[in-house]
Amino acid sequence: KGDPRLEAISQAIRVVPHFPKKGIMFQDITTLLLDHKAFQDTVDIFVDRYRNMDISVVAGIEARGFMFGPSIALAIGAKFVPLRKPKKLPGKVICEEYELEYGTDCLEMQVDAVQPGDRALIVDDLVATGGTLSAAIRLLERMGAQVVECGCVVGLPEVKVIDT
Ligand code: PRP
Repeated sequence: KGDPRLEAISQAIRVVPHFPKKGIMFQDITTLLLDHKAFQDTVDIFVDRYRNMDISVVAGIEARGFMFGPSIALAIGAKFVPLRKPKKLPGKVICEEYELEYGTDCLEMQVDAVQPGDRALIVDDLVATGGTLSAAIRLLERMGAQVVECGCVVGLPEVKVIDT
């Protein structure tokens, strides 16, 4: 709020009506990634907020949380842990389900990635219903980590769905 960089960041995100299907206003962050200044400012805003919060792990949510999380992790001196769609990660994993419009999906995390006492920041591009972030929080808490905060580039307080 009140940060002059936010307007340019917002302008750099392309809104695509009716993608991937009718009624969805898709927030396309790929145009933000193409704009070096806006991309850098986005990462810097997260880094400014989290650098002194003693965060030991940044957990990024597949797929677009992977585009912001690692840069933030490197800058604040934390490890990066990917939270992935099912059957992508080798070794022992834990899984948490979340609701989709039709059915459910789940996110997986490797059990040896996080230890009790880790202080976690969860990063994604966008929060809509919050279902995905909730599953991510449960994964980290199951392994004994403390989730300090969830940070997203785009929030959708009013999810724009056009009735047809
Ligand atoms: C999108 C977005 C978030 C999630 C937010 O991911 O990147 O991860 O939806 O929705 P929610 O708050 O209602 O849970 P998507 O499911 O499109 O997966 P993808 O990034 O792998 O394409």
